[in-house]
Formats: sequence, C-alpha cells, structure tokens
Amino acid sequence: MCLDASPPFIVGLTAPLDKTLFRKSIPILAARFPATKLGSVRKSEPMRRSVIDLPRVRSVIPDPSDPTGDKLVLLKASSEVDLPTQTLEFLTTEANGLVPYTLELNYDYWTADEIIQSILPEELREGSPTGFAMTGHIAHINLKDEYLPYKSLIGQIILDKNPQVRTVVNKLDSIDTQFRFFKMELLAGEPDYIVEHHEADCRFTFDFTQVYWNSRLHTEHERLVQIFNPEDVIADVFAGVGPFALPAARKGCAVLANDLNPQSAKYLSLNAENNRVADVVRVSCEDGRSFIQEAATRLIANEFPAYSGPKKSKNQENQERRKQRFVKPQADDVLLPGRNKISHFVMNLPDSAIQFLDAFRGIFSHLSRQDVDRIYATMPMVHCHCFTREIEPENAKADILKRVEEKLGHPVTEDFSLHLVRSVAPNKDMYCISFRLPAKVAFNSE
Ligand SMILES: C[S@@+](CC[C@H](N)C(=O)[O-])C[C@H]1O[C@@H](n2cnc3c(N)ncnc32)[C@H](O)[C@@H]1O
Repeated sequence: MCLDASPPFIVGLTAPLDKTLFRKSIPILAARFPATKLGSVRKSEPMRRSVIDLPRVRSVIPDPSDPTGDKLVLLKASSEVDLPTQTLEFLTTEANGLVPYTLELNYDYWTADEIIQSILPEELREGSPTGFAMTGHIAHINLKDEYLPYKSLIGQIILDKNPQVRTVVNKLDSIDTQFRFFKMELLAGEPDYIVEHHEADCRFTFDFTQVYWNSRLHTEHERLVQIFNPEDVIADVFAGVGPFALPAARKGCAVLANDLNPQSAKYLSLNAENNRVADVVRVSCEDGRSFIQEAATRLIANEFPAYSGPKKSKNQENQERRKQRFVKPQADDVLLPGRNKISHFVMNLPDSAIQFLDAFRGIFSHLSRQDVDRIYATMPMVHCHCFTREIEPENAKADILKRVEEKLGHPVTEDFSLHLVRSVAPNKDMYCISFRLPAKVAFNSE
C-alpha cells in the first residue's frame, strides 16, 4: 500500500516558474473517530500499517464537514479494496464510518530537489543538482553544462524553498588567477553580493565577487588557530578577509595580516573593527614576498602591547570599566613587556605559497645579534599550504618536502608535520606543511 505523492513532471517550462502548475489531488479514504479514541487507534497494529505516512502531512485532521465533532484519520488507500483485511475489520468495529477525502498537494509541499527533478527531462533527472553551499545570504551552485538551460528555474526553486537565501549564483569555471575569487552569474534573487558570514564566532563582511572565501576551509582555520598560544604574534601572509587572523585575535593573539588584493585588505580592516580586535590586527596590502621579508623588523620597531587576555564581550568590558573607576592605580603595577616576536607565519595560497618560501632567506640578517638572541631564541613556525598531485601519502610528503627545501635552500627538520587539508579533485590534494624556520635560512646573509 503506497500513495504516489511525487510532483507531476512538467518539462519544457521557461522562467519565471509558474508555481500553480505544481498541483496534485490524491483521492484517499479517511476514517472517523471520536477524539477520545485517537490514542488507542494510533497504537493499534492494523491502523499503524494503514495510516498515511507522508512527510509534512498530518495524519489526523478535523472533519471539514463537522469541525467540532469526530476527527478524520487519513488512510493510505483510495478505496476499501486497498486496505488489508485486518484494518477493515478494525475500522468496521471501531470507526464511525469511512469517508472519501482529497489530499491536495501543491508547490509548497514538495522539496526543492523534488521540484527540480520534476522540471527536468528524464535523461537529466539522475544526477540533477542537489544542495548548494551558503556564504552569507548567497547560495552558490556549480551547474554542469547540460543543466544550464534550466539554470533560472533551478535558481528560483532554490530561492523559493530556502528562506535564508536571498541570492542564488552559479559559480563559473574561471577563477581570478591572482586573487583567487571566482566569477559568478546571478540565477535568482537580489544582485547583492556583499555578504555577512559567520565563522568561529566572528562576523565577516565582504564582497563575494571581489575576494576569496571558502567555507570548506573552516576546519583548517580552526585547526591552526587552536595551535596558536594567546600570547603569540601571528603573521598571516595571504590573509584574505581574515578567517585565520580574526579568530586568532579574538583568542588574544596579535596579528600582522596581509593581502595583496586591496578589496581583501579593505574588508579585513572592516572585519577587525566589527569584531572589536582592530587594536591587535595590523592590516597591510602588499606582495607576500616583501611582507615576509619586512614583518619581523617592523614588529621590533613597533611592537604590539602585551597580551591582556582573550577578547571580552562588550558587557564584560563595560563591567570592568565600571569596576576600575573605584580601583586606585598602584604605584608598583608592573608593566608587561610588549610583543615583538612572530611565533607563526601562515601562508594559505596553496597554488603558489611554496614559491614564496625563498623570501625567508635572510629575514633576520639585518637584525642586531642582540635583538635576535633576545627575541628569537626559538624560531617562528611556518605553516604553508600547498597542492600536490601525489595521492599516496608517502609520495605526497616526498614531493612537498622536495619543493619546500629547494626554495628554502635548506632541509626542514625541526617540528616538521604534514596535514592533509582536503581533496580538491580526484588527483589533487591540499596539504599544510608546518615546520620551524631553520635558523640558518633566517640568518642567511647571501
Ligand atoms: C587562498 S586565499 C586564502 C585567504 C584566507 N587566508 C583563507 O584562508 O580564506 C589566498 C589569498 O592570497 C591573496 N594573494 C594572492 N597573491 C598574493 C600575493 N602575491 N601577496 C599577498 N597576497 C596574495 C589573495 O588575494 C587571497 O586573498
């Protein structure tokens, strides 16, 4: 016993979608029961097998012809012959009669996937687009060529069916080679690409058509931020709009955050403000190579204030300010030393970050011996993202190490680790190689 509640196939539609076409009337039977009996009726074995069980359809409803009287229990049968003998016997003795009922289903009833399937020609139904990624209010999909004739309809269905979506775009294959953001076309909704996206308790605002953002990296962002100590200074060479920088700053870290894309740098500054960490995030907009070469020297010349605990909520800050009004400053209050040492370099530009590693050669060569001994008793860690086409872990390790060591001009030995971030294609993996910068590289004066 089963009812066909799938939407009607309506192939050949053009945008805008006419929702009224999606209707289905299913004649069924309903059994009348007094409300007091419903508990035991629902539990009885013959009824359990025969009561309607469609998602989002209530199986017990008021009787439209007598709203205050008996209830109607909807059955998954359109005539008595469809009902098992046991159910019929039960209904004959327990119910106050059977009545015909018409189940009306419409566009609002079916899911986006069901409606999308119903507008496609048969040969495209299997493998039809399901699901989408969300960035702020934008739903983005990646339509295969054969689905492009239906793109506006698909866009409208996604928009209709997901109240949190205001804009639907199709990601085009071309990615901006330098700044890594992808081109997109509007399928449905508002042409508004400035999004507000939340990750790791931070609020990110950015223009999705101008800057790089990938929500699939959130676990990688979290993984590295977790490694940082709150007292650390982080140098984020390819910072984007701040998915490493801002959570790190909220944790207490001070961050030198750089991105060559002026739009990324603009939104990075805005996001530092919005997340109330602008005092510990210094934004720059320059090539990663010069940033790596200058960052340590700049920091010594202009250090960050001492670590003062993780970022507090606005309420906590106000409370503390109120308390401090009654506390007399102590003459012997100790001034904590400022932060002038970079503990971690983050380099998330997997396509080419390894190419930038030679910039580390000699970064400390123009610091005084005294400064270096005092500040860099332990060398900074480098976390460099990269791609490899070697899929076997051992081969991937050999390939990545070879390229890294070639660029550094030195073997990587101390605190070395390799982390598989994600598979980006069947024969392409993204890794993060972490290692302590060899002192000989940083002091290289050649
Ligand atoms: C893959 S994205 C990573 C952004 C961010 N760290 C994240 O995890 O989402 C790489 C970033 O590097 C920036 N970029 C590209 N070339 C650069 C360069 N030569 N120097 C500095 N930044 C660069 C791009 O604008 C982009 O924002």
